[in-house]
Amino acid sequence: MNGAAPGNVDQIEYWNGDIGQRWARNQDRMDQAFQPLTAALIEHAVPRRGERAADIGCGCGDLSLLLADRLGAEGRVFAVDVSRPMLDRGRARQGTLAEASAGADRAVIDWQEADAAAWPFPEGAFDLLISRFGTMFFADPVQAFRNMRRALRPGGRLLMLCWRPMADNAWVAVPRAAMLQVVPAPDPAPPHVPGPFAFGDAARVGAILARAGFTGVASTAIAAALNAFATGSTDAAALDDAVQFATELGPASVLLRDVDDAMRARAVAAVRAALRDRAGGGRATLDAACWLFTAENPAAAGHAP
Ligand SMILES: C[S@@+](CC[C@H](N)C(=O)[O-])C[C@H]1O[C@@H](n2cnc3c(N)ncnc32)[C@H](O)[C@@H]1O
Repeated sequence: MNGAAPGNVDQIEYWNGDIGQRWARNQDRMDQAFQPLTAALIEHAVPRRGERAADIGCGCGDLSLLLADRLGAEGRVFAVDVSRPMLDRGRARQGTLAEASAGADRAVIDWQEADAAAWPFPEGAFDLLISRFGTMFFADPVQAFRNMRRALRPGGRLLMLCWRPMADNAWVAVPRAAMLQVVPAPDPAPPHVPGPFAFGDAARVGAILARAGFTGVASTAIAAALNAFATGSTDAAALDDAVQFATELGPASVLLRDVDDAMRARAVAAVRAALRDRAGGGRATLDAACWLFTAENPAAAGHAP
């Protein structure tokens, strides 16, 4: 990808590989599972008609599509992501919606394949920078947020949802602990390595945003019981879905990337046993915990670095 920050190359490769394809194929169930968290993000963002929003790490575009409805035809959404398969899925969804409801009062979405840390955003072009789980992957987060802040108009706002530590997120911690009964534990990762849990420490993220020039930084704890990626209508089907998600797609699945078939089968059985009592009422329910970070681009010229 042209113009990417050199430190982000591994993540760009990762999100364009097998995992990006799997996210694109499973977009529906991911969006359904994240629905209560997305609703909280939108509620806090209060998107207004005619605003211009940039969705950072937009993935398959669920948030971008919801924003497009809120901003109306006078608004604009800039949906940026490094993953081509996920962007393709987003564009296809937008096309389907446009066909189903031509002339709807909906903002245009500009999809952009780019590294948000390095993309030359037009200065002051956006009222709102927003992200659902798309900002924890930068090798140099201060530099990345400095770059994105310049895209905000003075007084423009940032809102982003990020996972709290893994221990607070049973939807990952429970299957991971089960896998670790079978597979060898990986070497401990260095702290704050780019990845889903890199922004678990709210004080650290606050310091990153302040160094990047944001003011009024705040974090709000948000929790929800997720229907853990289950689409089946019976408990057995819900359990199958939850096991498949945990072992093939969710963050814990990296533990099974290089194991042989026999070990994988035992790990999958351990996950099934661990998730069995979470299935009920055709759902598989596990707790999730996030931070909602909010901040703004200072209005006064010369205030920011
Ligand atoms: C956990 S997914 C979330 C996707 C989407 N926001 C959602 O909630 O479904 C993280 C996303 O961040 C994107 N991403 C990672 N590094 C990025 C970067 N440097 N610039 C833009 N997007 C990036 C990935 O490609 C991926 O789509």
